[in-house]
Amino acid sequence: HKRQDLLNKRILITAAGTREPIDPVRYVGNRSSGKMGYALAETAAKRGAEVILVSGPSNLPIPQGVTIKKVETAAQMHAAVLSEFDTVDVVIKAAAVADYRPELIAEQKIKKTGDTLTINLVKNPDILRELGQQKKRQLLVGFAAETEDLITHAREKLTRKNLDMIVANDVTLPGAGFNIDTNIVKIIHKNGTIEELPQLRKQQIAEIILDKICIMLTKSI
Ligand code: PMT
Repeated sequence: HKRQDLLNKRILITAAGTREPIDPVRYVGNRSSGKMGYALAETAAKRGAEVILVSGPSNLPIPQGVTIKKVETAAQMHAAVLSEFDTVDVVIKAAAVADYRPELIAEQKIKKTGDTLTINLVKNPDILRELGQQKKRQLLVGFAAETEDLITHAREKLTRKNLDMIVANDVTLPGAGFNIDTNIVKIIHKNGTIEELPQLRKQQIAEIILDKICIMLTKSI
């Protein structure tokens, strides 16, 4: 890569969806493939950063030069992210973390008995919100996957989670969101400015996000 503008920076990136077990063979999950997060990890490493990729289950190859920590549940992602937080300069949270998990995990495969089955869900920790409360010098970049009122919801997450920047994607648009090679995003900064990007490959979006991060890192020195 021509630019080594992230040399000596430690960047933690989360990718893919979490899986919340119901019983030994079933889970609650989502459609995240890891493509967005892995593109960020690969690009950041090429630009010289030391990258820690905390990933939920994904079939993608591990990008070269990246330290991988594989997790399954939101609780495991929470532990992995918190254990690295003090050592990093930047966190980018592209993972789709389950907001809720089954309250009880059945020890044996649940049998097909009744006509309906109720699974009680309890709230997971909001990893990014906790980072926002703890952050000292770190830059925090979140993603917002929305199906309506994109800007309003993304802005609300930026504020509530104390982020420096949020990348908002309307996951209902063809060419955007889960499990495809392109995305359509709006980048919202802490100061309120919004940049709208056209449909681009996730690698190109990763480059642009990292350009913004470089500028913020230079300003905060
Ligand atoms: O993996 P792909 O198939 O390429 O798809 C990419 C993507 C659509 C998953 C990605 O672009 C994206 O939008 N990721 C964030 C999805 C999401 O969970 O958004 P959210 O609006 O629910 O969460 C907002 C932010 O808080 C996210 O940065 C999320 O990582 C974080 N979060 C959410 C819940 C929670 N319990 N802990 C968190 O840290």
